Amino acid sequence: DAVERGEYRHYMLKEIHEQPNAVAETLEERLTRDRLLPAVFGPDAETLLPAVEGVHIIACGTSYHAGLIARYQIEQMAGIPCNVEIASEYRYREPVVPKNYLFVSISQSGETADTLAALRLAGKKPYLARLAICNVPESSLVRESDLVLMTRAGPEIGVASTKAFTTQLSALALLALALGKAGKRLDQAAEAAAVKELRALPAAIEDALGLNDEIEHLAEQLVHRHHALFLGRGAHYPVAMEGALKLKEISYIHAEAYAAGELKHGPLALVDEDMPIIAVAPNDALLEKIRSNLEEVRARGGSLIVFTDPETGFEADAHSQVITLPKAGGKLTAPALFTIPLQLLAYHVAVHKGTDVDKPRNLAKSVTVE
Ligand code: G6P
Repeated sequence: DAVERGEYRHYMLKEIHEQPNAVAETLEERLTRDRLLPAVFGPDAETLLPAVEGVHIIACGTSYHAGLIARYQIEQMAGIPCNVEIASEYRYREPVVPKNYLFVSISQSGETADTLAALRLAGKKPYLARLAICNVPESSLVRESDLVLMTRAGPEIGVASTKAFTTQLSALALLALALGKAGKRLDQAAEAAAVKELRALPAAIEDALGLNDEIEHLAEQLVHRHHALFLGRGAHYPVAMEGALKLKEISYIHAEAYAAGELKHGPLALVDEDMPIIAVAPNDALLEKIRSNLEEVRARGGSLIVFTDPETGFEADAHSQVITLPKAGGKLTAPALFTIPLQLLAYHVAVHKGTDVDKPRNLAKSVTVE
């Protein structure tokens, strides 16, 4: 056990640090210098993808959060509708499937009972095809799907998913790109720019891991908190959801994520000096929106931790701390990059608290029963 963990104290920390490599592996041989290779989704995909008029994504847990992020990217790059749903809800509805929809399941293990049940239900519906994004080649999900895109994270031991998530985001970025190309919405220059951005992701994750010591220090302040509120907007709202999930899974601190624009509809009532607010604020089109949301928090005495990009102008003061990523990502990669410090934050809070980081109470790595 100790040998496999190598120099790392926990599998989770090892897996967090494996992300540059896992993401590089997942992108490997799927991109040229400036193109997405046509065979990535298998030989049938070339005729199938141009027919896709919409996407339904189904998953559980962390994999569901990857799907929520992909929705923004698919709609933006391919200009087709994309809905994302939790498998345990989908399987007990009577989902209505419009013409020419693609079903996409996302799962690290490929054995999650609800996700498999959703896949089987989808098999009875008139989808164009069922695509699985999965990390385990011999899994039931892979065997039963029509199309497969493997993430190549390698075995993930820590119950709290880390490298599976960022490799899922990488695979889903390839899907957004493929759908954008197939629908003729992405021209060559846009494709080349997206590929360049993706190819830079492993190194950018490596740089983000350099925030470790700063975050370890910051984590001390959260150890005795009972609640935390995570905020984000756009594709970074699900990033905030994933940050909150990581914190509650391994540190047992109650954490909730809200779309920052929704603050005024309820959670603002919770804000006082005992409630840490953790915000994901990249330098994107929504920066000024989230800045004004955070001003509302400050005005009510909340203590803020802001994760942001260089040159966004957030300043630390008595009530706010600012953690700046070394380099900004683009639309396809920023969500993965902002996930890194949130994983590290949850990890260090849990270590300070002394919980069983790799095997949190009551949770299983793969939920194979309903
Ligand atoms: C469990 C794990 C989570 C995981 C979820 C979905 O709850 O603890 O880390 O995200 O299952 O698992 P899957 O293998 O389908 O991605």
